Amino acid sequence: MCVDLLCSGVVMLQVEHLSVRYGENIALDDISFTIPRQRVVGIIGPNGAGKSTLIKAMLGLVPLSGGQVLLKGKPLLPQRQRVAYIPQRASIDWDFPATVQDVVLMGLTPYLKLSENLQEKHYTLVNEALNRVRMAEFSQGRIGELSGGQQQRVFLARSLVQAVDLYLLDEPLVGVDQTTEQVILNIFDELRAEGKSVLVVNHDLGQVVKRYDDILLLRKNLVAFGERDQVFNSENLNRAYAGQVALV
Ligand SMILES: Nc1ncnc2c1ncn2[C@@H]1O[C@H](COP(=O)(O)OP(=O)(O)OP(=O)(O)O)[C@@H](O)[C@H]1O
Ligand SMILES: [Mg+2]
Repeated sequence: MCVDLLCSGVVMLQVEHLSVRYGENIALDDISFTIPRQRVVGIIGPNGAGKSTLIKAMLGLVPLSGGQVLLKGKPLLPQRQRVAYIPQRASIDWDFPATVQDVVLMGLTPYLKLSENLQEKHYTLVNEALNRVRMAEFSQGRIGELSGGQQQRVFLARSLVQAVDLYLLDEPLVGVDQTTEQVILNIFDELRAEGKSVLVVNHDLGQVVKRYDDILLLRKNLVAFGERDQVFNSENLNRAYAGQVALV
């Protein structure tokens, strides 16, 4: 008989006893949580809390010193193509000489057969994705010449052309304009409605938090995790940010 969330097909992501060390420094210590389908989850914590490390560890970009990560009940890494990742902006080479359209087309690379040429259907997909993030008019512009917010929307479009279940976004809203913020938050709502889950690292503890279903508070350890209204209170925030300034 099927009684738990996993066998009912509701679970998207399970992180079990995940630990990461950089040399002697323990960056994440025994982190466990489960995220169902159709959730938008904010990962919140002070500088150096391990937010980026958590996302990178899930994707195998930094080695785990313990634990495991499952996507829909099976190890995530062999299903890596079912997960979209947008890194923290500082880690991307923004001088790359590519057009907006090129950048989004790159998202299709894993789905093209060797020697397959790009066809009209591929450009249509790219155009649809650029429309969703309201960047279609910039399709022939250089990525390096866009504002930070516009670049962020293009990178989101690149992940939208992919057939993925889970989106991992590292600080997509930092320093972006109001339009970009609204576009990105609306896409989170659309992705939820499509049955996907989104994990989004967030620095800012302002109004934006209301758009998340769940909050994961991190500070090397898992400080708290659960529905936003249960977790987002001053007691938990004080535990996560003790001694550091929270950006409210
Ligand atoms: N490649 C690395 N080598 C060594 N230590 C690292 C490396 N990356 C991160 N760290 C350390 O691990 C800890 C967690 O870093 P991480 O970048 O995951 O934090 P974060 O929560 O994303 O911070 P921020 O809010 O500044 O982006 C920090 O102490 C950091 O100095
Ligand atoms: Mg980070």
